[in-house]
Amino acid sequence: MVAENAGLSEAEVEAIGRVGLSLDQADKMVENVVGLFQVPLGIATNFLIDGRELLVPMATEEPSVIAAASNGAKMALAGGGFVTSSTKPVMRALIQVTGVDDPWGARLAILSRSEEITSRANEKDPMLVSYGGGVVGVEAEVVETRKGPMVVVHLLVDCRDAMGANAVNTMAEALAPFIEEITGGRVYLRIISNLADLRLARARAVFRAGEIGGPEVVDGIVLASALAESDPYRAATHNKGIMNGVTAVTMATGNDTRAIEAGAHSYAARGGRYRSLSVYEKNRDGDLVGSIELPVAVGTVGGATRVHPVARAAVRVLGLRSADDLGRILASVGLAQNFAALRALATEGIQRGHMSLHARNVAVQAGAKGDEIEAVAAKMAAEKRINVDRARELLSEMR
Ligand code: MEV
Repeated sequence: MVAENAGLSEAEVEAIGRVGLSLDQADKMVENVVGLFQVPLGIATNFLIDGRELLVPMATEEPSVIAAASNGAKMALAGGGFVTSSTKPVMRALIQVTGVDDPWGARLAILSRSEEITSRANEKDPMLVSYGGGVVGVEAEVVETRKGPMVVVHLLVDCRDAMGANAVNTMAEALAPFIEEITGGRVYLRIISNLADLRLARARAVFRAGEIGGPEVVDGIVLASALAESDPYRAATHNKGIMNGVTAVTMATGNDTRAIEAGAHSYAARGGRYRSLSVYEKNRDGDLVGSIELPVAVGTVGGATRVHPVARAAVRVLGLRSADDLGRILASVGLAQNFAALRALATEGIQRGHMSLHARNVAVQAGAKGDEIEAVAAKMAAEKRINVDRARELLSEMR
């Protein structure tokens, strides 16, 4: 059904279901390859994003994540699904200038040469410029450090459909001698910033009170949100729940999960205190309004997205039109995932749902094989006793 919906070719279906990544392909992706490490790929359902129905591929090792995302998305349907927006795909390259006697003067010297800096950087990537991307700004700050003041130059680059690390790193490295010439300082670091605060995606959804269990559930989720907005200990787990969804889609599309994680967590701490990436409020009708904003440094060209056959097929399942499209999907999935977790936490707790889905893993750990796995898992779920000891007992009874 997924293949039919996305119009996948026979080869793409094979890639997802059977062939996957070959050892030969893997050997060209990274170094010292000795094998493949496989992770389950599932499809989250019920996503309505900006009026478009989507099936969302998710690569994750964690049971109940895909079910929860699908459930969260389903509960958003009555309110019209997810409504998204985004900024332009602008990434920052950082250039560290040290040993400057007059850092404030150097800062202004850099800013006064912005146009020249821009054109020199753009010369490094005419292809990006031809697609409407390239440098959109130059910033310079003096950063006080324990080794004295440093001038930090930011090159703001519209990366279009690329994640952008290669583009901005190339530009930053090429500019270093020119920046040294302007400032009289010495350049050390020339690298992307993963705090992609100029490349944001946002999603909003209305969860109707009647759909999600009534006014008490709405109030419970608003209280959970309030805590995560103020308490870093709760915010870390709240955001981990968001990233369960975001990272799984990032992985499925062959994007850099660490870049996405670094961006999300540093953005969550941008005000000087770590807080939640999402907020839940009660509207005038008594319904729950969820919103999320997070950096989305992802691409649809280059990298593993184009090389890994399963990632390529996942991109086709999503029907991606651009990296911007993917960013908005990530925000929506993060919100759905987060909502589902909060709903469970604000009501019966997550363990019942999670453990019943985890029961199959427990059965396997206890040594169950073939049909035994489902039978042991179902029995444990019915008894609400899901642990390896019980699985072993049931197995030996069965056998
Ligand atoms: C578990 O992987 C994620 C949760 O802990 C998220 C949360 O607490 O919001 C359930």
